[in-house]
Amino acid sequence: MAVDEKILDLRQRTEAISLGGGQKAIEKQKAIGKMTARERIAALLDEGSFQEYDTFVQHACTDFGMQGKELPGDGVVIGIGTIGGRPVAVFAQDFTVAGGSLGLMHARKITKIMDYALNMRMPLIGINDSGGARIQEGVNALAGYGEIFFRNTMASGVIPQISVILGPCAGGAVYSPALTDFVFVVDNISKMFITGPEVIKTVLGEEISMEELGGARVHCEQTGNAHFFAQSEAECFDQIRKLIATIPASNTQAAERVETVEPKTDTYRIGEIVPADPTQPYDVRDIIRSVSDGSDFVEVMELFAANIVVGFGRIDGQTVGFVANQPLVMAGVLDCDSSDKAARFIRFCDAFNIPIVTIEDLPGYLPGVDQEHAGVIRHGAKLLYAYSEATVPRVTVILRKAYGGGYIAMNSRHLQADFVFAWPRAEIAVMGPEGAANVIFRKEIMAAEDPEAMRQLKIQEYKDKFANPYVAAAKGYIDAVIEPEQTRRCLIQALSVAKRKEALQPKKKHGIPPF
Ligand code: HXC
Repeated sequence: MAVDEKILDLRQRTEAISLGGGQKAIEKQKAIGKMTARERIAALLDEGSFQEYDTFVQHACTDFGMQGKELPGDGVVIGIGTIGGRPVAVFAQDFTVAGGSLGLMHARKITKIMDYALNMRMPLIGINDSGGARIQEGVNALAGYGEIFFRNTMASGVIPQISVILGPCAGGAVYSPALTDFVFVVDNISKMFITGPEVIKTVLGEEISMEELGGARVHCEQTGNAHFFAQSEAECFDQIRKLIATIPASNTQAAERVETVEPKTDTYRIGEIVPADPTQPYDVRDIIRSVSDGSDFVEVMELFAANIVVGFGRIDGQTVGFVANQPLVMAGVLDCDSSDKAARFIRFCDAFNIPIVTIEDLPGYLPGVDQEHAGVIRHGAKLLYAYSEATVPRVTVILRKAYGGGYIAMNSRHLQADFVFAWPRAEIAVMGPEGAANVIFRKEIMAAEDPEAMRQLKIQEYKDKFANPYVAAAKGYIDAVIEPEQTRRCLIQALSVAKRKEALQPKKKHGIPPF
C-alpha cells in the first residue's frame, strides 16, 4: 500500500532532525566515548517506550549570524518513556547541535518537560551535555536557566530529580544538577565547574586540566557534588534504572512493594561480622547486606565521606534507606562531610516516604582544629535536624560503640526514633573508657605508685559499669537488647508497626535547617 505523502513528509522531517548536528559532529562525539542524545535516551529507557515532544521547535535568535541557521530541535530532546514500566520524563541535551548550548527555546523545551514531570508526578531525568548559555542569545539564555532553577526547587521533595552529566556542564548551568537529588557522572566524560581552567589561569595564574578541576572522580570523591560514579555511559544508565526501580515516583506514593527475598545468610553471617575487639574494623555494608532482602544494597555517594554509608535496600519487600557508620574508615566518626551526606539522604527518604534504618557503631564526632574551623558544629547540626524532623518510620540498631554526641545524633530515642535496639556488645556511654578514665580518675592515676596499672584498673572499672547496653536499657532509652541473629526479624516487626504512627509536628511554614 502506498504511503501517504504527508506521512512520508513527516518521516523525512523527523529523520532529518534526528541526525542532530550532522554526521561529522556525531563522529566527534563518538570518538570520545559519548553516545548521541537519542542513543542515550534509547539506552536508558524501556525499548520503544519513548515518545518525543517538541521535535520541530526552532530557535528565534536573529543576532550574531543566527538568522536562518538551522539548529535541529534547538539542541535538546525531550519526552516521556518508561523504566521497568514506570513513567519518567526525560530531557537530553544534544552536544552535536551548537554544543548543546542553551537558548530561549531550548530552555522552554526543558521547562515544559519539567512541568509535565511535576504535574503528572513522575521522576525527572536530565541528561546534561552542553557548552552552557548560548552566547548569541544573551540574557534570554540566562532567563532560561533561571526558569529551570525555579522549577528544580519547586519540584524538590515532590518528584525525584536525577541529573546525568555526560559532557561539559559549566558556569551557572551546574546549579540545575546541584538542585536535584542525585547526580550521576561518568569517568573521563563528565566535566562540571563554575569557571573553567582558562578563566582560572587568567584570574589566578593557576593551571589545572578540566579533568582535575571538575572530572567525575573529583565530584564523587572530593566535592560531594555527584552521587554515582560509572566507568561508561552504559553502566551509568544501569545505575539509574536500578535507582528508579527502588524509589517512589513522587512524594504521594510509596515505593513499589516487591516479593520478599531472604538475605544471603551463607555469605553474610550477621553474628560473625563484628569483631569482639572494639578497636577492630569491619565493613558495615556486610551488616546491611545481612539484613536486606536478597542482600541487595544500592549505595549512594559511595566514594565521598566513606566514614558513613548511605543507600537503599529492601526489608520484607519494602524500600528502606540505610544510614550506617563505617568502622572501616576513620573508625566511623562523624565529621562535616559525613554529617552533610547523611543529613541530605535522610531528608530525601523523609520527603519520599522511605523508612530509615540506622546502624550505629561510632566513637563520636571527629576532634581537631580542622574540623572545628570547617564548621563541624553547623554541619553536625544538620544531622540532628534531619533526623529530628523526619516523620517516616525510624529504627536504630546499635552494634557496638555509641559514644557521646554520636549516640544522640544517630537516631537516638531522644530524637524520637520509633525503636532502638542494641546488641549485647553495645557500649553506650558519654565517651570511650580510655578517655573517660583519664578524665574522671586523673588524680587517683597520678597519685598511684604505679600510674599505668591504676589507669588500666580504672579503665576496667569504667568499662564494667558503662561499656554495655544495660545502663541505657534500664532507663528505657533502648527498647530491647537483641542477639545479632534477631536483627532482621526485629527490623521487619518494627518497620511494619512504625508505619502506622501518626507523627505530629508544630504548625510552621518551614523550619530553618543549619544549611
Ligand atoms: C554557543 C557554543 C557554546 C555556547 C559551544 N558552542 N559552546 N555556541 N554558545 N556557549 C558551539 C561551538 O561554537 C561549536 O560550534 C560547537 O558548539 C562545539 O563546540 P567546540 O568548542 O567545537 O567543542 P569542544 O572543543 O568539545 O569544546 C567544548 C566546550 C567549548 C569546552 C564546552 O565549546 C566551550 O568552552 N564553550 C563555551 C563555554 C562557555 O563559556 N559557555 C558560557 C558559560 S556562561 P561549531 O558551529 O563550530 O560546531 C554560562 C552562564 C550561565 O553558562 C549562567 C546561568 C545562571
